[in-house]
Amino acid sequence: MHNFIKGLPKAELHLHIEGTLEPELMFTLAKKNEVELPFASVEDVRAAYEFDDLQSFLDIYYQGAAVLITESDFAELMSEYLERAIADGVRHAEIFFDPQTHSERGVDIGTVIGGFRKAQAEFADSISTSLILCFLRHLPPHAAVDTFEAARPYLDDIMGLGLDSSEVGNPPERFVEAYALGRDAGLRLVAHAGEEAGPDYVWAALDVLGAERIDHGVRAEDDPELVERLVREQIPLTMCPLSNQELQVVPDLRDHNLKRLLDRGVKVTINSDDPAYFGGYVAENYAMAATALGLTRTEVGRIARNSIEASFVDDERKAELLTELDQYLASHEVH
Ligand code: ADE
Ligand code: ZN
Repeated sequence: MHNFIKGLPKAELHLHIEGTLEPELMFTLAKKNEVELPFASVEDVRAAYEFDDLQSFLDIYYQGAAVLITESDFAELMSEYLERAIADGVRHAEIFFDPQTHSERGVDIGTVIGGFRKAQAEFADSISTSLILCFLRHLPPHAAVDTFEAARPYLDDIMGLGLDSSEVGNPPERFVEAYALGRDAGLRLVAHAGEEAGPDYVWAALDVLGAERIDHGVRAEDDPELVERLVREQIPLTMCPLSNQELQVVPDLRDHNLKRLLDRGVKVTINSDDPAYFGGYVAENYAMAATALGLTRTEVGRIARNSIEASFVDDERKAELLTELDQYLASHEVH
């Protein structure tokens, strides 16, 4: 199954680039930029990756991101991710970034995007990519609006808007103004919802923000009417099994609702969220879910198809990716 999964053409739709910062690169950049880390060694960092919940992860994740300063740092971060994604069969990636994590440290959004664009161009023959700007929901709504305005000169490089960070107590409604600006500018809209907070956050992400995909959406299952809507409107969920396991969103991967929702007809996808922190890139997420939930090759193929269909690529590229997937499945006698 593992080789089948690695070769399977797929799209990754829920990936925080700051969450791909491996401890080795963290230490290299900390030394170069003379940033002090609260860890003595790479082993120390890995040992600190024991999380009780989303917040305990975010506290460490924002500390790690402090080593990213120059355009070349952001380019290196993106290059390392793209190399790993390509090795995992990712043919298209829609990549989240958190400009506020960097602007709060005095790093300009132009530096961040400039670095990403260099790496994206370098790997463009092997993987198509786009950027999704995420607002940090633990910060005030006016900060999201300011961030959008700071990003305005770079909108040609940005595909969409997202919403991440501490979910409970920071409902989607707070960000209605920033999302309206994005919609007016022609951006695509997604939002994290139903990771730790309940189905009401998913409803609000859809109805108040106008999100076209829901990132995580695990808790949507608590509301049968919401599940019916996700099925009826084919609203994709970008699920992240290893993240959910590591952040104790689901106590045991064998209880993850990904397969139940797939069986119900929800457009479920599998993604890696913050792979450097949760112990696996996207192929590992597919493989762990397949093992824990007993997914067949047909089901795994369906999830890869969902990922391509749920992406925001243009019709021509989408058709190309679907053809590639069909050929791969046919050559592996998967129907
Ligand atoms: N930022 C990075 N990963 C996240 C997650 N899983 N949920 C919310 N915010 C995040
Ligand atoms: Zn996420």
